Amino acid sequence: MNPAQLRQYLEFYRDLGITEILVGQASLPVLSESETLLNIRQDIGDCTRCRLHEGRTRIVFGSGNPEAKLVFVGEGPGADEDAQGLPFVGRAGQLLTQMIDGTAKKEGIPMTRADMYICNVVKCRPPENRTPLPDEMETCGQFLSRQLLAIRPKAICALGSTAAKALLNTKDGVMRLRGKWHKWRDIPVIVTYHPSYLLRAYNQDAKREAWEDMKKVLHYVYD
Ligand code: URA
Repeated sequence: MNPAQLRQYLEFYRDLGITEILVGQASLPVLSESETLLNIRQDIGDCTRCRLHEGRTRIVFGSGNPEAKLVFVGEGPGADEDAQGLPFVGRAGQLLTQMIDGTAKKEGIPMTRADMYICNVVKCRPPENRTPLPDEMETCGQFLSRQLLAIRPKAICALGSTAAKALLNTKDGVMRLRGKWHKWRDIPVIVTYHPSYLLRAYNQDAKREAWEDMKKVLHYVYD
């Protein structure tokens, strides 16, 4: 295996949330637990199922703990995510990290972003960061469902109305949906503001509400 192949191989497993590989083991038992995520990523392949593939640099599958108690679902990759192949690594991602880590610390919950799994409704960056179109969400949605079924988290946090729409099949916006529990199949769902909205919002109420939502869902999965 040459260095470029090794890099590609390691990035592939990193995308699945695997951060340690035991060198020298004949088989990699750690992988069997994520077998389904692995299958899903393999199924996606070098996807051309919808028009979003035309503008993408990298597929952003998802990252984090494959056995997470909590999965965050965003809308779709932005420029930084497209370049790195990882979800929520730009400014919105930094805010999301602060929200998770800051709230957990304040609440005495021994969890950080690394304990969570994070993915998006669509895995390729929409042009000019536009909202994914219904057919794109439909095409990519099967992968999100399969990721959620593979992880089987205790709860899901939908970040923004696109994620809420994809998971809850609703047209309602975040303001209406937040503050109460919903369900994706049998898994409880909290809807909160997308971190990009919070970065723009002069509205202090939205920020306060987002922290409340985070507190609620973190306690639910930890307590
Ligand atoms: N916004 C999203 O919805 N997802 C990301 O991964 C980054 C920004």
